[in-house]
Amino acid sequence: MKRTKIKELLDAPIIGKKVNVKGWVRTFRNNQFIAINDGSTINNIQGVVDFENTDEKTLKRITTGACISITGDLAESKGKGQSVEVIVENIEILGDADPEKYPLQPKKHSLEFLREIAHLRVRTNTFSAIYRIRHAMIFAVHKFFTERGFYNVHTPIITGSDAEGAGEMFRVTTLDPLNPAKDEDGNVNYKEDFFGKETNLTVSGQLEGETACMGLSEIYTFGPTFRAENSNTSRHLAEFWMIEPEMAFYDINDNMDLAEAFVKYLVNYALDNCADDLTFLNQRALDDEKTKPQQERNELSLLERLRFVAENDFERITYTEAIDILKNSKPNKKKKFQYLIEEWGADLQSEHERFLVEKHFKKPVILYNYPKDIKAFYMRQNDDGKTVAAMDVLFPGIGEIIGGSQREERYNLLKQRIDEIGIPEKDLWWYLDLRKFGSAPHSGFGLGFERMIQFVSGMTNIRDVIPFPRTPDNAEF
Ligand code: 4AD
Ligand code: MG
Repeated sequence: MKRTKIKELLDAPIIGKKVNVKGWVRTFRNNQFIAINDGSTINNIQGVVDFENTDEKTLKRITTGACISITGDLAESKGKGQSVEVIVENIEILGDADPEKYPLQPKKHSLEFLREIAHLRVRTNTFSAIYRIRHAMIFAVHKFFTERGFYNVHTPIITGSDAEGAGEMFRVTTLDPLNPAKDEDGNVNYKEDFFGKETNLTVSGQLEGETACMGLSEIYTFGPTFRAENSNTSRHLAEFWMIEPEMAFYDINDNMDLAEAFVKYLVNYALDNCADDLTFLNQRALDDEKTKPQQERNELSLLERLRFVAENDFERITYTEAIDILKNSKPNKKKKFQYLIEEWGADLQSEHERFLVEKHFKKPVILYNYPKDIKAFYMRQNDDGKTVAAMDVLFPGIGEIIGGSQREERYNLLKQRIDEIGIPEKDLWWYLDLRKFGSAPHSGFGLGFERMIQFVSGMTNIRDVIPFPRTPDNAEF
């Protein structure tokens, strides 16, 4: 019999229809009620077993985590918590899960514990909801840009250039095919760089994205990016996904407009299309809040935060204005915001960003016109000679969610900056070519996809919004 997904059964139930459901057992109560989930929705379907006419051996095998197939008629449910149920006529055990060994028992497990079993955590409500939201957000990204006439461009993962100039790169080497294993001393036999050329895993697709926008006008990339920074924070991964639009004929203001419209669109898409999962995560976040000290609790619930961001204008201020605000703020005794900035020119730390967003403005903030010395070489110099047309979008609870800028399109100024910083011209000759042949004002930005998912799902650790997080302490799976 053809399988029906649980979501389909619950969305449009046909009472009396014979159905087949396949999925994983969440709970089995009183030798009678099986809660089954197949990942199509956060909701389970209940199977009602005629235990008197089912053999003992089969009943014993219906355990949490087992994969089963049930067939029977769909009926209205008299029980609480569900509207319909399957009156089971036939059960098949597809895969046993030894209850002595299966690590996911029907109780609340800590997120830390679940990270150690990343291969199984998709079977919890929290993680299946996050996987589904991630999917919805991927789709919404493509929908947003397609509706605006942008083209999706694949940029290389193995690259010879350091787009951010920060030197945080993973080197790509080839193993010796004749002797790929370790030698007696345990050293791996690396053969050479990538066929003789020094290459790295990309930190950003921006520079290649710029080449595409200088012909297609408006493009975006959406791919994995890699940062070899040794930071163990709740917002950093060594491998994360980034969306990088790049637009010819946009200045910094157009860039800020697009960035704001983009994140609002994603939030609205989630509110409109992920209601069940967000309701669940909202409750989860509320329960979580209760375990925190009063002063660390959020004033708004997750759903309220999402609606707030979707409906309100972001604050836009220059770096210089932000420094003034920080200088004039009183240090907070409770440690959190005590490192208020002294000097113009210093890079903002996350506590400064959080102060501006969470305490001062109480809304998302776009900071722009940063000192040129703390920003990347490709950003467009402003007429003051001190700042560049950079912009960062800062979010409550997250900090920097987007980084971007208007790009330096003037050959002489870009060449001068590259020389000042000491980047060899041979690494960027093609990038300079764009400014020699038909140059145009253009802008772009990068949205950290996992930070966006953190905001939408309310998860506090970035390790919990990507199926297999890569961090200095975890590359096992
Ligand atoms: O600010 P970043 O480094 O900017 C760029 O890479 C530019 N090339 C983007 C562009 O203009 N096209 O990174 C952009 C965003 C950050 O705002 C943050 O959301 C995310 O990428 N990000 C990280 N997310 C997770 N783990 C990390 N280690 C991240 N580093 C940056
Ligand atoms: Mg940045």
